[in-house]
Amino acid sequence: MTILAIETSCDETSAAVVQSGRVLSNVVSSQIQLHAEYGGVVPELATREHLRNLAPVTQTALREANVTVDRLDAVAATRGPGLPSALLVGLKSAEALAFALRIPFLGIHHHEAHLYSPWLGGSPPAADFASFQPNVSLIVSGGHTMLVHVEAELKHRLLGSTVDDAAGECFDKVAKMIGLPYPGGPALEKLAAEGDSHAFAFPRPMLNEANDDFSFSGLKTSVRYCLRDDPAILSDGRRLRDVCASAQAAIVEVLVTKTLRAVRRLNVGCVTASGGVTCNLVLRKELVGACRNAGIVPRLAERTLCTDNAAMIGVLAERKLLGGQSSSPLDTDIAASWALA
Ligand code: KG4
Ligand code: ZN
Repeated sequence: MTILAIETSCDETSAAVVQSGRVLSNVVSSQIQLHAEYGGVVPELATREHLRNLAPVTQTALREANVTVDRLDAVAATRGPGLPSALLVGLKSAEALAFALRIPFLGIHHHEAHLYSPWLGGSPPAADFASFQPNVSLIVSGGHTMLVHVEAELKHRLLGSTVDDAAGECFDKVAKMIGLPYPGGPALEKLAAEGDSHAFAFPRPMLNEANDDFSFSGLKTSVRYCLRDDPAILSDGRRLRDVCASAQAAIVEVLVTKTLRAVRRLNVGCVTASGGVTCNLVLRKELVGACRNAGIVPRLAERTLCTDNAAMIGVLAERKLLGGQSSSPLDTDIAASWALA
């Protein structure tokens, strides 16, 4: 089966061609530069940019895959959650193409797709469902932080999520407080690499609560108070690096500890992780280390596939289509607030 997949849920315009679990192409046009000036994603600008980029990105994906539209068996697109107008651009364009080609269309849940990006590996990437095993999946991005029990392929249950800020949002807000450009996560990680993670004792919110939820707004506020009470830190390179390292350590400790606790409770043997924050090398190292110590198999999405991409949409869509699912073309609406069940 050959599928064209489209992803436009936030600030990345992406198109991919997937064939029998193999990612033939995965083109991502990022809008980071555009939104950096505003310190965050501006929905109206994101939508205009998707409108401008979707056709060329799709053409490039088809060309790189060496596939013409008449060879497509289905089209898939992200249905939600995400920015409503951004979703509309991708979903309705994809659906119209499927209608014109008289082939099936499928709207995909963005977070459900994230559950499968850790199973993509190699170059070019291919889905390794042969080694699939029940797992606890950490999805950690700028908009979401959640733990999901993936009991079997296409069968999952949300365990918990953030009650306020997402982990990536916390990285971005702390970075902003110290004057780093948006998105702050990668820049903060760079500074943190030269800092002392024990220098400041920032809180580990909800670490000891007996649930799988997260909260990061208190940690962000604690950093804000620390800088307010001692503004000289802002012009002291060494202590600024210590703030970054200490804040990062707090975020990572909460994510790793709660993930491993869920794994033990549910008695599964595998942890997966995806989402932009999974690019963070300290999180990757700590998560892999904790898994190895506990005899758990870690499966982290490759760094290029952690952030939003259409490949994961296509891979999940193919599994679902092969399982008999599809929707009637022109019948699918976006679901901007679609919660993972
Ligand atoms: O998944 P993603 O590309 O977009 C969504 O939010 O859906 O994630 C972006 C988030 C941003 O908050 C960004 O700062 C964070 O991922 N991020 C990182 C790193 N790279 C990206 N956070 C910490 N360390 C990183 N290396
Ligand atoms: Zn995402």
